[in-house]
Parts: sequence; structure tokens; C-alpha cells
Amino acid sequence: MEFVHKPIMLKEILSGLDINPDGIYLDCTIGGAGHSKEILKLLSDKGLLIGLDKDQDAINVCKDRLKDYKNVILVKSDFKNIEKVLNDLNVTSLDGILIDLGVSSYQLDNKERGFSFRFDSKLDMRMDQSQKLSAYEVVNTYSLQHLTRIIKEFGEEEYASSIAKNIVKNRPVKTTKELAFIIEKSMPTKVVFKRNGAHKKTFQAIRIEVNKELELLFETINYLITKLKSGGKMAVLSFHSLEDRIVKNAFKINSTGCLCPSKTPICICGHKKIVNLVNKKPIIASEEEQKQNPRSTSAKLRIVEKI
Ligand SMILES: C[S@@+](CC[C@H](N)C(=O)[O-])C[C@H]1O[C@@H](n2cnc3c(N)ncnc32)[C@H](O)[C@@H]1O
Repeated sequence: MEFVHKPIMLKEILSGLDINPDGIYLDCTIGGAGHSKEILKLLSDKGLLIGLDKDQDAINVCKDRLKDYKNVILVKSDFKNIEKVLNDLNVTSLDGILIDLGVSSYQLDNKERGFSFRFDSKLDMRMDQSQKLSAYEVVNTYSLQHLTRIIKEFGEEEYASSIAKNIVKNRPVKTTKELAFIIEKSMPTKVVFKRNGAHKKTFQAIRIEVNKELELLFETINYLITKLKSGGKMAVLSFHSLEDRIVKNAFKINSTGCLCPSKTPICICGHKKIVNLVNKKPIIASEEEQKQNPRSTSAKLRIVEKI
């Protein structure tokens, strides 16, 4: 299957990163190289792009799509391991960083990957196909309490307990369609009709759990900010409120000086502001982009600049 993914807010990201042709850029989630290829076009021979993805399919397609560029290093890795990756490459500072969170269209649209309720596939949802935990294990081995909590927290689903109860009652649940059917039966029919995709929230929750999408995101952003050169920029694209909250908080803390309670006469925390927010409110996709690419409608872009 062809790797198709339209890069979201490409213009906004390129202008926000304000590429230095000789700089070192890190794309933590390179996917189909949609953003990275355009970054590479702006780099000189002295510039470098490091691209990470935990999906081997993405790394393979990038090897092919970026074969004409000499100044690219591709690494199959979770960006949570970025400290080790940068150390191994002897890279001590960066001019720009991009994190385009979540799944690619290729992953969602590929029946074999078991992400979507649009196909009848074996429950999978692993971005990294070499990892052990898949959606099948989550759905079929987690306790009722654990499943309920995940669906409630990561899916913000109000029918979480009824969905989790019905999943447990109907185990083993083998395919995406079986799971979608159980979810539909766990909520009032009028809600199923009213919602655009009754299963979306539960599928999102299970996907986040399988890929541990929120784990260490805050810490990783904090670490990456320390690696930015003065004037370097970091752009993060998020696709749901849980991700955006983490990005917003990480950026807020790093763009704030003293964190002592307001009544403290002298600062004792020693906290320093190290970035400026490039945009106070998140940037959203233009109406035109939203029309052309429905996946851009939930996207929020936040950018900071290192002081
Ligand atoms: C939205 S896509 C990126 C698309 C890319 N910007 C483009 O324009 O082609 C997200 C990619 O990030 C990868 N990914 C998600 N979380 C990751 C993580 N923690 N570490 C490494 N890669 C990750 C996914 O496998 C997926 O390929």
C-alpha cells in the first residue's frame, strides 16, 4: 500500500521554524517526510536533518523519498529516547524541532495495521510493529476497571463503563468491526446517530494506551527545549485536547520566570524563562486546508523560540 499522508499546516510550520539553511533540524515524527522534505529543500549542504519514527514503514518510505539528499539521518526510534539518539550522533544543539503527534493517514488507512473501524481487521494499532502490546491484548486482557479508566481518561468517553463492561462480556474481541459493534450497542441509539463516528473516542483511547502516546511527552518536550540553540524554534502539532494540554503546559512553564507563590517577597525557586511563545493561542488550519484535508480540522500548532 502506498504511503499517503498530507503534511498539515506545512506553510505555517516552515514559516514558524524560520529555517536556517546551515542549521540542524530534528523531525521527531517524520512519517512520510511531508514536512521534512520541504525542510530539506531549504537546507544547504552544511545543514542536517535528523528524522525519527517508531514505525519501520515510515523509515522505509523516507529512505526512498529522501534518497537524493545527502544531509539526512533516519533513525527508527521512539522520540522518548531522543537523549540517547542525539548522544549517539554527537549532536549537542539544534536549530529547530518538529513534533507532529499521533498517527499518519497511512497507518489509519492501512487495513493491515488494525487502527480503524472502517475495515474488518485484526485489532492491532501498534505504531511500532516490533512492540509486544497491541490493541488485541489491551481489549482482551485488561481488567474491567483498567479498561474503564483508559476509555474514560484517554477517550473522554461518557459511556466508558458501559462500553468496558460489554467488551469484557464479549471477549475475545478479535476485530475492529467487532469492537465497533460492541461500542455502538453500549450507548443509546440516538447518541450513535448524533455522533459523527460513535466509536472514535474508544478507538482513540485504546490507540493512546497501546502506543503510550502521552507517557513522557511533557518530559521529552522539556528536554528538547534545552537542546535548542538561542533563536532556535520548536513546533508541535497536536490532534486532541489531552495532547494539546501537555504541549501547552510544557511551553507555559518554559516561558515563565519565577514560579514562587505571588506573595513570596523574593524568588526562592530560581526558575528561569528560557523560551518565548511565538503564538499565544494555538494556530489552526486555514478554512481551505480544513476543506481539502478533514484530518487538519482538529490540529493545533504551538511554536516557541529559545531565548
Ligand atoms: C502525523 S504522522 C507524521 C507525518 C509527517 N509529519 C508527514 O508530514 O509526513 C505521525 C508519525 O509519528 C510517528 N510517531 C508517533 N509517536 C511517535 C513517537 N513517540 N516516537 C516516534 N515516532 C512516533 C507515527 O508512527 C507516525 O508515522
